[in-house]
Amino acid sequence: MIERCHRDTRPRSRPRLHAALAVAAVGLLAAAGATVLPGAASAGTTLGASAAERGRYFGAAVAANKLSDNTYVTILNREFNSVTPENEMKIDATEPQQGQFTFANADRIVSHARSRGMSVRGHTLAWHSQQPGWMQNMSGSALRQAMLNHVTQVATHFRGQVVAWDVVNEAFADGSSGARRDSNLQRTGNDWIEAAFRAARAADPGAKLCYNDYNTDDWSHAKTQAVYAMVRDFKQRGVPIDCVGLQSHFNSGSPYPGNYRTTLSSFAALGVDVQITELDIAGASPTTYRNVVNDCLAVARCTGITVWGIRDSDSWRASDTPLLFDNAGNRKPAYDAVLAALNNGTPPPTTPPPTTGPTTPPPGGGSCTATLRDGTRWGDRFNSEVTVSGATNWTVVVAVTPPQKVSATWNGTPSWDSSGNVMTMRSNGSGNVFGFTTMANGNWSRPQVYSCTAS
Ligand code: XIL
Repeated sequence: MIERCHRDTRPRSRPRLHAALAVAAVGLLAAAGATVLPGAASAGTTLGASAAERGRYFGAAVAANKLSDNTYVTILNREFNSVTPENEMKIDATEPQQGQFTFANADRIVSHARSRGMSVRGHTLAWHSQQPGWMQNMSGSALRQAMLNHVTQVATHFRGQVVAWDVVNEAFADGSSGARRDSNLQRTGNDWIEAAFRAARAADPGAKLCYNDYNTDDWSHAKTQAVYAMVRDFKQRGVPIDCVGLQSHFNSGSPYPGNYRTTLSSFAALGVDVQITELDIAGASPTTYRNVVNDCLAVARCTGITVWGIRDSDSWRASDTPLLFDNAGNRKPAYDAVLAALNNGTPPPTTPPPTTGPTTPPPGGGSCTATLRDGTRWGDRFNSEVTVSGATNWTVVVAVTPPQKVSATWNGTPSWDSSGNVMTMRSNGSGNVFGFTTMANGNWSRPQVYSCTAS
């Protein structure tokens, strides 16, 4: 099967982007002793190496009890250059009894990572969830004191070993209120978040201090705006905050939003780094993974991406198969898409995203080439034209990026997968050029040709 797809080159923003990336990359690469031509494409063969060439890290959430699993450790050591302990630094793990700290499991992860040159993100010092029983039962000033002591003790223990801390996790409510989440910590007073940040800064002045949350990916959501307002306020008042983590657990209920890049760049414009801290995408659509990576690369202060686990079977949402490696540890199409995006190249041929609908595989046989060109563009939509060569009877698979929707087609017979994003177009005797109109719905990225098959 041969296919050719044109990369989304976004000509209007690219020169500035390259300049910004070059500046960011030169600093990091100078430290690593590598050289790279400004604007040159990367040639990394692993996620970590390739991200590093772009001045970023690529990390994974790691569980201490899997460090004896050979397949797991082989992938971790080969692919990733940053690690976040999945549960081992949480409050219930590090202070199971008040005043008694246990760091053994977290220390194992930290030493595994640091001895191999991987950096460590600390997760998390203050959170309403995964609190030990003693803390769940506390309130008022006693809880405030206990929380601050916890922040101080844990950040002190890992001082110098953790590059960034999720100081506070998930402190805002879902929905349209834009309010803080109710919790025992919130009830100690609205200033509990800044108090936690100040304690963390005092304990480890060298660590970047992040606020981390989920459902803060869509720029139009009240929760995103509320976190943005808090970070802006912290910066204005001198509360020590250096970064914002977007967990980015994407699924049908919380899909990847077309304005994700706007969210990343808007936070960055406040003078903080942004990091994608817990990425997983239900179904692992290569297109969506690629979009996330491209969005991060487009924002100079998006400093790294962490996926929330290694193989699908390691995921907290294993049945969603949301990660880059399958249960056996094989690279999935999403892996290829991520690596290609990091390398700033055209993704290699991948199969369309998994579908539950009755997508008929294209009739096998020969091969052909399908080339996509941009057509007319209007305020709300654009045309694309695909030229097929090498076959008269052909089947071409094309995907658009949600919330884009194809609204019209010509010179072919289309059928759709259940997501409505993947279109299988078959020749209908009208020749070798077909076309379609895409409603942008805010996302102007170019549709992707997945395959061309002659029959
Ligand atoms: C999850 C872990 O992956 C699970 O193993 C655990 O049982 C529950 O927590 N947001 C976060 C993470 O900040 O800490 C959560 O991790 C996933 C959602």
